[in-house]
Amino acid sequence: MIKDLWYKNAVIYCLSVGTYMDANGDGIGDFSGLMRRLDYLNGLGVSAIWLMPFQASPGRDNGYDISDYYSVNPAYGTLGDFVEFTHAAKQRGIRVLIDLVVNHTSDQHPWFKEARRDPKSKHRDWYVWSKKKPTNANKGMVFPGVQKSTWTHDPVAKEYYFHRFYDFQPDLNTSNPEVLAEILRIMGFWIQLGVSGFRMDAVPFVISTKGADVKKPREQYAMLRDLREFLQWRVGDSMILAEANVLPSTDMQYFGDDGDRMHMMFNFQVNQNLFYALASADTKPLIRAMDKTKKRPHSGQWGMFLRNHDELDLGRLSEKQRQTVFDAFGPNKEDQLYDRGIRRRLAPMLGGDRRRLELAYSLMFTLPGTPVLRYGDELGMGDDLSLPERECCRTPMQWSTEPHGGFTKSDKPIMPVIGHGPYGYEHVNAAFQRRDPNSMLNWIERIIRMRKEVPEVGWGDFEALNVGNDAVLALRYDWRNNSVLFLHNFAAEPIEVEFKTGLADQRGARLVNLLGDEHSEAKKNGKHCVCLESYGYRWYRVGGLDYLLNRSDV
Ligand code: GLC
Ligand code: CA
Repeated sequence: MIKDLWYKNAVIYCLSVGTYMDANGDGIGDFSGLMRRLDYLNGLGVSAIWLMPFQASPGRDNGYDISDYYSVNPAYGTLGDFVEFTHAAKQRGIRVLIDLVVNHTSDQHPWFKEARRDPKSKHRDWYVWSKKKPTNANKGMVFPGVQKSTWTHDPVAKEYYFHRFYDFQPDLNTSNPEVLAEILRIMGFWIQLGVSGFRMDAVPFVISTKGADVKKPREQYAMLRDLREFLQWRVGDSMILAEANVLPSTDMQYFGDDGDRMHMMFNFQVNQNLFYALASADTKPLIRAMDKTKKRPHSGQWGMFLRNHDELDLGRLSEKQRQTVFDAFGPNKEDQLYDRGIRRRLAPMLGGDRRRLELAYSLMFTLPGTPVLRYGDELGMGDDLSLPERECCRTPMQWSTEPHGGFTKSDKPIMPVIGHGPYGYEHVNAAFQRRDPNSMLNWIERIIRMRKEVPEVGWGDFEALNVGNDAVLALRYDWRNNSVLFLHNFAAEPIEVEFKTGLADQRGARLVNLLGDEHSEAKKNGKHCVCLESYGYRWYRVGGLDYLLNRSDV
């Protein structure tokens, strides 16, 4: 049994270099700027940073259209800056994960340029071609409403090429062993430069069979083991966090029955049902989603998140449930995207209501897995709906009341900082919130600190307790002779709940509140009775604070 899997009890913070801080004043964030903010991140207590794509790119999909995998976008700095950065992060004990975007390249990548020009070139078969337009060309678009087709005619090649995403992102032919070898080379390169692993983009599509003759795409799961094996052999404590919005029935294919494939996966199932629970105050579907995704190998882990850089995808909810979430958090057409999701940031979705924000984050930090926090959410940053598609929630970090929120000295930031309304940087910024002990920022910092001292959530097994009210989620975790218990009230009304901890021994008689003074002693019938305020939550240790003395080694 491996004990020191760092990602099992970590807090991951996601950011993009271009919108974090601009040190050289050209309006674009860069590695020098990010490096100067490492102490902020250290203070916040995050264990790892997930860096969104920073390689050379025409920048038509926020960097997810890479034109050179072995480079740093010159706007962000040089490879030298990158290594300085990973070194500086390491000195502070912060690990760095980077995006691995290998389902497709940019159409400006030299491989694609050569492939389209020369049918005999080595790179021709690195992409997916068809002489005739395949009959299913109008199916399977990831961005419906924006993207018209998955096959586009290339006037140079005089053939159609396959693209699961935008037409400027031709899919790599990942079944070609040379492509796979190149992917490993890319991983090896960045591992050597100090990263601890990868957030792997669009995994189901990477491993899918592709081609004009492919009627029913099939996932080639064995590839996942190839990737993992390579990585683990190069650097033992590195890992892959898979972006795979798949059905629970295939989860174990991604983790591998023996834990020999992906180390971590984002839990989209729980994410969508969590938003449904926040919208409806009905936790039943959320508990079902947690049960369905409960199974994972010992070394496997879920990534828990609220919002990320994409839209909140609600595609796995029923039509009725989806409508409930739309009605609550994104009723207007301009809030919605791709017929399936909401493109807003979390704070405006929740009406800026601090009680609901705390509820949501308290959940993210206590659902079974490793929390992944998006930059700016620790301040309750807002969005700019005048920006197209998913750009609205990718505005610069709001540091202070200085011009452009302290993000840049340039007159023209490449992305406009939010400078008006209740979420403008004059009101929402890190400097203000640092001084205010009750700010969102300081609350998040305290909750991260506490969460790291509750490894039961990351490592342990959970049980949902029956409290007789579907608006309240009660979870108990057990690990190494220690237990913790969490209550969350999704309703706007206060609710009193009575429950048993479900533990056979005497420990369950006492619940020590980890965030406040109000502890709980069981009544004679063995039940606890807790009154939760509207959107209230509790973090309890079962037994007493001598738990560390009782914790077992195995
Ligand atoms: C993933 C990313 C998204 C990107 C897409 C294509 O879904 O999260 O931002 O547009 O892949 O690379
Ligand atoms: Ca810059």
